[in-house]
Amino acid sequence: MSDDLFEAAKAARGHAHCPYSGFAVGAALRAEDGRIFAGANVENAAHPQGQCAEASAIGALVSAGAKRIVEALVLADGDALISPCGGCRQRLAEFAEPATPVHLAGPAGVRHTTTVGELLPFGFGEGHLGRGGGSEGGSAVDRLSGLKHAGDTRIAIQLGSGLGALVDALADVDAVDYGALAGFPQPTVAGHRGRVVAGQLAGVPVLCLQGRVHLYEGGPAAAVNAPIRTLRAFGIRLLVLTNAAGAIAPHFEPGSVVLVSDHINALGKNPLVGPNADDVGPRFPDMSVVYDRELRDLVKKTGAAAGLRVHEGVYLATLGPSFETPAEIRAFKAIGADLVGMSTVPEAISARHAGLRVLGFSAVTNRAAGQSGRPLSHDETLAVGAVAGEKLAKLLGVVLPEVHHAL
Ligand code: HPA
Repeated sequence: MSDDLFEAAKAARGHAHCPYSGFAVGAALRAEDGRIFAGANVENAAHPQGQCAEASAIGALVSAGAKRIVEALVLADGDALISPCGGCRQRLAEFAEPATPVHLAGPAGVRHTTTVGELLPFGFGEGHLGRGGGSEGGSAVDRLSGLKHAGDTRIAIQLGSGLGALVDALADVDAVDYGALAGFPQPTVAGHRGRVVAGQLAGVPVLCLQGRVHLYEGGPAAAVNAPIRTLRAFGIRLLVLTNAAGAIAPHFEPGSVVLVSDHINALGKNPLVGPNADDVGPRFPDMSVVYDRELRDLVKKTGAAAGLRVHEGVYLATLGPSFETPAEIRAFKAIGADLVGMSTVPEAISARHAGLRVLGFSAVTNRAAGQSGRPLSHDETLAVGAVAGEKLAKLLGVVLPEVHHAL
């Protein structure tokens, strides 16, 4: 929890030297060994020259021999929250990971949590220092652009649990680890690798995002925003979201692939909570057609012409990580869900906000809880997901050329 960070930042804020601005700020950082370092803003008569609270805290942390920041908190002294300045965002990025949480607090406590990657999606990299260079340096967009054959790529495919094998169907592959892409998170679940693979699927250039974070890992919902906004800045127009899902509708067989027609957000979280990125999309984005109707029709038509009948269903996202109870599944069915899973919805919301077109495919890995008389397991999800993954690769191979044309 951030209570200890809050108290440390509050104590530091009490020592702020801010006679020129009048704004006292405290910052506290948790180092990877658990120690907490705090700092206050220190101004001088050459104001606005001076030192931010975050910079003071980072100075204390580094001077004490700590190397990495795992959590940060910035405390304002009034109602208006203070977020790190550009320089401090870069300093935080130097000593933290893109997924490192940054809490913004007021006198009553934490009011908003973001991440280092969200604050600085396009940070300076080694390329800006004259080291590296080319595809090895620069922003996440530069690095994606440096991938072989990435030139005219308009489609990105987010691969779900156990569906990473889809990349085996790619030709001309080139890859970059999420770790080299500012704002891309490091997944912690087996079956999820963290890298972007560029390649050709049935002659169509695609970027495959192999590995995603789930809300049950404990990070903020907003962590999905930075990668999606990077994809948009790179030139992606369509985000294809894939997932492993349990079948609530009785006619969806394990091992089959279902096109997502709509979703129900039962996560209790939304990636757009917090200050709106007005340059990306509106405060209240429309969600009446999340999964592109024209492209869905095209998928069904092209699939059917190739003998691949594609069913559609409503996907419900639940927080997890526990699977559902039979009573929950009955409740989800009653509110209109056909499929249940623990992903996809945050990315779909963020992508629509950013103006990307979206398609969703569920690989059905099991009958939902209480529908088969057998317990559910993640191993089964991965194993059956591999079978459905092959079907998905086949279906995408058939439909992507048409979809690519329509973009
Ligand atoms: N429930 C939630 N998530 C899932 C399931 C399920 O039955 N199967 C695969 N992911």
